[in-house]
Amino acid sequence: MPTTVTLIPGDGIGPSIADATVRVLEAAGADLAYDTQVAGQAGVARYHDPMPDATLDSIKRTRVALKGPLETPVGEGFRSVNVALRKAFDLYANVRPAHVIRLGGRFEKVDVVLVRENTEGLYIGIEHYTRIGDDPRAAASSMAVITRFGSERILRYAFEYAVTHGRKKVTLVHKANILKFSQGLFLDVGRAIAQEYVGRVEFETQIVDAMAMKLVIAPEQFDVIVTTNLFGDILSDLISGLVGGLGLAPGANIGVSAAIFEAVHGTAPDIAGKDVANPGALILAAAMMLDHLGQREQGDRIRSCFEQQVREGRALTRDLGGTAGTTAFTDELVARLKG
Ligand code: NAI
Repeated sequence: MPTTVTLIPGDGIGPSIADATVRVLEAAGADLAYDTQVAGQAGVARYHDPMPDATLDSIKRTRVALKGPLETPVGEGFRSVNVALRKAFDLYANVRPAHVIRLGGRFEKVDVVLVRENTEGLYIGIEHYTRIGDDPRAAASSMAVITRFGSERILRYAFEYAVTHGRKKVTLVHKANILKFSQGLFLDVGRAIAQEYVGRVEFETQIVDAMAMKLVIAPEQFDVIVTTNLFGDILSDLISGLVGGLGLAPGANIGVSAAIFEAVHGTAPDIAGKDVANPGALILAAAMMLDHLGQREQGDRIRSCFEQQVREGRALTRDLGGTAGTTAFTDELVARLKG
């Protein structure tokens, strides 16, 4: 029996890179069936709802989704459908692996996994303006909430990830020198959990500003990085820039009862409908999904053929310096997988 996953093609370039990804999954022999659903603008178009019940119900059933990028409708509904999905399924761990595939760039040996706390911190959406005199927006406040529970589960996830993936070191990134309460709690919890892994996983801490510099100068020294929501958001894009850009950056949002796999990039409206988007990030996200589903062999095959193709420079898309379109890139990858 194939495993059914929810497939949300998404908006903009989403449908074309989702089609490409399904072709690649089939060519790799992934044992999957798809329950195709809509969200984002496609959800608004069909159900007048960016996060339709049918889509939520499907994810509740399948517990695993492969999702193209979603456009957040401006001025109505949710602030971000992606954030709402993470909240709806309590997808507390955002996992973004990045390693150099194409040699000859600035770095040759970058191979890091960023684990970002996905549900707390400055992204909880508790914000307000304060009126002073006749100015209703004289001041603005956004609250960052860090809990012991939230810190423990993300930090434990990072250490367990290191153990199960044969990784040597966990770097906790924080700003506890200034934000002594919220960041201090995260740091304290990290230090306590690190004790449980002594002898198995090396542990170090870095202040986020110094970390940004170190990542740009010598990213090879890092392995698994774990941090709070906002810092993770910023550092993960920085890291994707070190290894060839957004077109190669996959991400997983993991919770206790569901997991959603997606590309880090958005809907790329500037290139939608032109058959030029790089489907790589969603393809690599699909490979992470196969690992999660216990179909690791197929996931490894996809990664291996994909990386070989990129390294050889065959049928590359424009963002990778080639001239091929989405279809031609995918044709080449499918041929390799079948060959
Ligand atoms: P974006 O990631 O869509 O685009 C940034 C730049 O990267 C553009 O020049 C685009 O052409 C290029 N790019 C992105 N993906 C590419 C690919 N696969 N191949 C080649 N080039 C690629 O970011 P932007 O423009 O800030 O956001 C557009 C929309 O996407 C917004 O509505 C935003 O809310 C949404 N978004 C959704 C995300 C998600 O669903 N996870 C994540 C980020 C943004």
